[in-house]
Amino acid sequence: MTSLFQSVPQAPRDPILGLNEQFNTDSRDHKVNLGVGVYYDEQGRMPLLNSVKHVEQRLADQASARGYLPIDGIVSYNKGAQQLLLGADSAVLAQDRAVTIQSLGGTGALKIGADFLKTIVPNATVAISNPSWENHRALFEKAGFEVVDYPYYDAQTKGFDLPGMLQFLEQLPNQSIIVLHACCHNPTGIDPTFEQWLQIADVITAKQHIPFMDIAYQGFGAGLEPDAAAVRMFTERQIPMLISSSFSKSFALYGERVGALTVITTDSEQSPKVLSQLKRLARTNYSNPPTHGAKIISCIFNDAELLQQWKDELAQMRQRIKAMREQLVIKLKEHGVAQNMDFVLTQNGMFSYSGLTQAQVQQLRDEDAIYILDTGRICVAALNPHNMDTVAAAIARVLR
Ligand code: LMR
Repeated sequence: MTSLFQSVPQAPRDPILGLNEQFNTDSRDHKVNLGVGVYYDEQGRMPLLNSVKHVEQRLADQASARGYLPIDGIVSYNKGAQQLLLGADSAVLAQDRAVTIQSLGGTGALKIGADFLKTIVPNATVAISNPSWENHRALFEKAGFEVVDYPYYDAQTKGFDLPGMLQFLEQLPNQSIIVLHACCHNPTGIDPTFEQWLQIADVITAKQHIPFMDIAYQGFGAGLEPDAAAVRMFTERQIPMLISSSFSKSFALYGERVGALTVITTDSEQSPKVLSQLKRLARTNYSNPPTHGAKIISCIFNDAELLQQWKDELAQMRQRIKAMREQLVIKLKEHGVAQNMDFVLTQNGMFSYSGLTQAQVQQLRDEDAIYILDTGRICVAALNPHNMDTVAAAIARVLR
């Protein structure tokens, strides 16, 4: 008898979470995971933030039954997410032009947003940066779009190719969907300056492109406010857009799938209609979102003291990553790397695009149990004083 599933092909391994699976099965004690974008503390542990722990304790003490959440999630969570993104005194909020739903992480926000766009601009081209987060292409292709790459990283200068990007956006058909990393570009860590963002916004406005801003690392670059500067400037310029937020990293609540999708409309009359469509998509995908993580975050958003504590904890994570960047550059030099590695210092967020080749990455994996993405992306947030020297020595060796 032929089986229904006989012809099902093997799907390729996920370049990020698949590497995690491989890391987990590696039995070498000294293994180091610099692959997935997760923050680890000085001791190499994933932290449970004190602000989060405090609320969890409170919730456990007042344990209650878990009913269904509204399809669009917890109201105060969505409000807090909007304020974090747009600023509490945002004109867009006052004008009822921001529609936010709780989502299953940043990925869930991207997916609902992509499905929503498919209903209104079904034939649009989606442009993602070259390179981009590994899941962007797959996600938008699965939503039925043709996906192209716009120039972003200049391998020569190890910097941002603004002219290449602008020229590419100009020649795309009007109303293309442009996926942008609002801060802490994943994987390169290279962000446009504010001046450059203004130029990007000019082309997007002229071409009526549809920006889809991905902001998964707010607070890991220059700080919560400066990291939202591009998003806020776009909204001030009345550019209709979508934004996917993730709190996985900033609250260290990865497994709780805490994200939000925000749609900026041009008129408050559009907002309830947009919300009704987003709810339709959520309902037919997963019905309604989970309670726990969003409840923790909404409690923090609504308690001034806890909010400050969380901001301080986030600042500590940000500062530790910066210190690890500095240490890495120093240690690489000490281990004899002759090439200038100072570019690591100007990159933002959790990642460094190291310039390591796939062969060098493979060598590090095989010989040193050091896991780095095939593209050479290193998660600097997983470096610590205990593994730094080993990692720097191994990288120096493969670079020779
Ligand atoms: C990453 O880029 O490593 C993270 O965003 C985790 C993920 O889901 O890929």
